[in-house]
Amino acid sequence: MSKDSLSITDNRTGKSYEIDIDDGNIRAKQLRQIKVNDDEFGMMSYDPSYENTASCKSSVTYIDGDNGILRYRGYPIEQLAENSSQLEVSKLLIDGELPSKTDLDKFISDIKEFNELPSGMESIIKSFPKDSHPMGVLVSTIAALGTFYPESKNIQSEEENYKNICRLIAQVPILAAYFYRHSQGLEIVQPDNSLSYSQNFLNMLFKGDDKKLNPDLVDAMDTLLILHADHEQNCSASVMRGTGSSESDPYSSVAAAAAALYGPLHGGANEAVLEMLSKEIKTVENIPSFLESVQKKEALLMGFGHRVYKSYDPRAKYLKIAADKVFEITGTNPLLDIALKLESIALSEDYFKARNLYPNVDFYSGLIYESMGIPTPMFTVLFAVGRTPGWLAQWKEFLNDKDQKIARPRQVYTGYDYRDYLPLESR
Ligand code: SDX
Repeated sequence: MSKDSLSITDNRTGKSYEIDIDDGNIRAKQLRQIKVNDDEFGMMSYDPSYENTASCKSSVTYIDGDNGILRYRGYPIEQLAENSSQLEVSKLLIDGELPSKTDLDKFISDIKEFNELPSGMESIIKSFPKDSHPMGVLVSTIAALGTFYPESKNIQSEEENYKNICRLIAQVPILAAYFYRHSQGLEIVQPDNSLSYSQNFLNMLFKGDDKKLNPDLVDAMDTLLILHADHEQNCSASVMRGTGSSESDPYSSVAAAAAALYGPLHGGANEAVLEMLSKEIKTVENIPSFLESVQKKEALLMGFGHRVYKSYDPRAKYLKIAADKVFEITGTNPLLDIALKLESIALSEDYFKARNLYPNVDFYSGLIYESMGIPTPMFTVLFAVGRTPGWLAQWKEFLNDKDQKIARPRQVYTGYDYRDYLPLESR
């Protein structure tokens, strides 16, 4: 009997089984040998929302939820936020190593080569009503973008995949900015290759408004994008992998991932936090009654809680530092006082402590975006801009993983066994 194994006895039959342990875990398929009758399918593990199921082996991002640790390819998020740039972090996530200057310059120039939308996309973007939600437009236009690059379906080609990785990193912010200008009734601002990645993004949003293009705000935007770049097998990354597993093109997979991010329990939370602060709580005096409604399960404390972090989300910690720098330039956000008070009261109350509910990445990011002049419905779009390199890194790792194939979970069937059709007159 190897020591790296489980010995399981099925008390229904008295039979014993040896289950191999690999890297401290078991391959769930080994459970299939456990049966009462030989003609059975065999045992599965039932794990709704995959709370204890590893869908893959990955070396992209490491999270230690109990100790509030987040590392991209082994590098602590705090050091990357302090010293790196969004494009350098994108290269690190996608290729696995911090690039040399030559490699980084090449990557930046490859991104710039694709730093414009195919003609025809602008009219598609402008076909949306100005008051459409920007995330619905982003999901649609990322998928539409793929129709201009039919060769992207050839996902077996590394060269083709690299081109589309560069196109998506370059063009997702353009889609976002074009619709923002259209929604505000402003002239479209064309991408500008003489600017850095985050400078170009803010320029496409706010060209002419020098206050919003302050170099320190450009740095803050780049840091925000880094903090959002990846987060291992979160809901949208799993959708990216799942969609990619059927060999869909990367545009369709990123559009699907963005659709998953849109939900208020995931990336849509940053928008929901602002709504909660400004429309539900409104004043510091209302905090106790709001927290009471949360404890009565009448409302969620948006921007709090996390499936993995059972301590402070390290990104939230860093965002608080970034917020102070932004507020020095923009003036503080009046909602900040409510947020800080809400955090301190919630962290002192047993209900939240007992459930390990701490601020997550979405609790402070919206306050920063709003102070930078970005409208609330755009917050999740900025999350998607930051997360696109992470989704692509997960997708590339999936394609190169020989252990993987098309995602197709099983189910525990609880419906009728068999019944005959009943004609309408006899129902
Ligand atoms: C992101 O996965 C990632 O990595 C995501 C992300 C990334 O970078 O990709 O980090 C980005 O999505 C951050 C999360 C943003 N979402 C929110 O802020 C929405 C509010 N948070 C909750 O919806 C919730 O905390 C989740 C969805 C984030 C996590 O939920 P879980 O892990 O499924 O926890 P749960 O629902 O099982 O809750 C456990 C208990 C329950 O109470 P009891 O039934 O035990 O009494 O905690 C309670 C929940 O009711 N709870 C909350 C709460 N979150 C959990 N109660 C009030 N407010 C909350 N926010």
